[in-house]
Amino acid sequence: MKSLLWKQPSAHNMEMVTSENLISMVAAFQCPLNRSKTISFLAMLIMFFCLASRATLAQLATTPPMGWNSWNHFGAKISDADVRAAADALAATGMRDSGYIYVNIDDGWQGKRTESGELTPNERFPDMKALADYVHARGLKLGIYSSPGPLTCAGNEGSMGHEEQDAKAFAKWGVDYLKYDICSYRKVLDQEAHGDPDLAQQMMFGVFERMHSALQATGRPIVYSISQHGLSRGWTWASQAGANLWRTGDDIRDNYLSVTEIGFAQGGLSKFAGRGHWNDPDMLEIGNGGLTPDEARTQLSLWSLLAAPLLAGNNLSKMDSDSLAILNNREVLSIDQDPAGRQGSRFCAEGPLEIWARDLTDGSIAVGLFNRNQGPVSISLDLKLFGLKEVAKVRDVWLHRDLPPIQGSRTFLVAPHGVVLLVIHP
Ligand code: GLA
Repeated sequence: MKSLLWKQPSAHNMEMVTSENLISMVAAFQCPLNRSKTISFLAMLIMFFCLASRATLAQLATTPPMGWNSWNHFGAKISDADVRAAADALAATGMRDSGYIYVNIDDGWQGKRTESGELTPNERFPDMKALADYVHARGLKLGIYSSPGPLTCAGNEGSMGHEEQDAKAFAKWGVDYLKYDICSYRKVLDQEAHGDPDLAQQMMFGVFERMHSALQATGRPIVYSISQHGLSRGWTWASQAGANLWRTGDDIRDNYLSVTEIGFAQGGLSKFAGRGHWNDPDMLEIGNGGLTPDEARTQLSLWSLLAAPLLAGNNLSKMDSDSLAILNNREVLSIDQDPAGRQGSRFCAEGPLEIWARDLTDGSIAVGLFNRNQGPVSISLDLKLFGLKEVAKVRDVWLHRDLPPIQGSRTFLVAPHGVVLLVIHP
């Protein structure tokens, strides 16, 4: 029996980066180290804190974060009451118990800075600490949003020049997750990097790293999600800047074209993801009205094969039962949350048909047969794709049904814009 072909050379990217950082750090300290015991002690101390802080980071988001984010449905008009309602709905619908634990406020919560530079929430958020307490009391975690630029994408106050102060405020309020969105910092790059891509890259790394250090300095474990819209191949450097997840492209919209243009463009990125550091193809649109149930199943299936963060983006308190059943299908969610954290890849693309697969911890393989066509299509699953001749155990995770064993290959009828999602056990 052959295991899947795509080995993950850096499945433990974070750990590798960590030790590389450490080696270069030690090397940087090495010359003086030999000369002075005091410095040697200091270096050891720094090493210890480095390891400790990276260890904290590595423990965060060991599986892709799951929860809810306000942006896709509420936009910049989000309020304290909406966030509380989302927290209540996560608890009441059972979604929290399926793993959706982050309640993330996106852009639109910010007010003005005080004279001493303290960022205050706007009138729709009377008391952030009380809101965090409310969310925590329901067994959930609170997320917030800011930008490394002077302004956020919706034109609100950003964190530029106030990183440490803002990180402290977030920690004081009880925030557990920060989405840090490049927005107006792009303008800063245009103005200050003068078209020099290396300088722009250095600056971008620097501002994202700066907020990471500020968060770490608070001592509160805060998941760090950066959003640079795929700029400058963020997947190659974001985890070194301390990010637990990074956006791989532009904003998602509530329609099949947008979801699939983004989702099926994630090929080749799997080697950059792993426990504690994830590619983020953006949030879910399920339940917002623009996707049919088949299209919604396509998004959740693909995102789960991609080990993507699963942040529902709909109005949870007014969700229809189809959307809830899709979002809350635990067999699918357990593919996304598989503890080994190996992101899946495309195995085959033929016109509008795609086959993606992902190795799971117990040796089984999750396989998605996708039909991007507007009519039904038969897709043949040939086990040779995975170096197998037969599989005894086949589970259809949307139907919650075991299927007969497969010898060689089997053909599945896949609905228009739909998916058949299987777990096969070699
Ligand atoms: C950007 C991000 C979105 C959202 C908005 C808020 O467009 O990509 O996800 O956060 O900003 O203004």
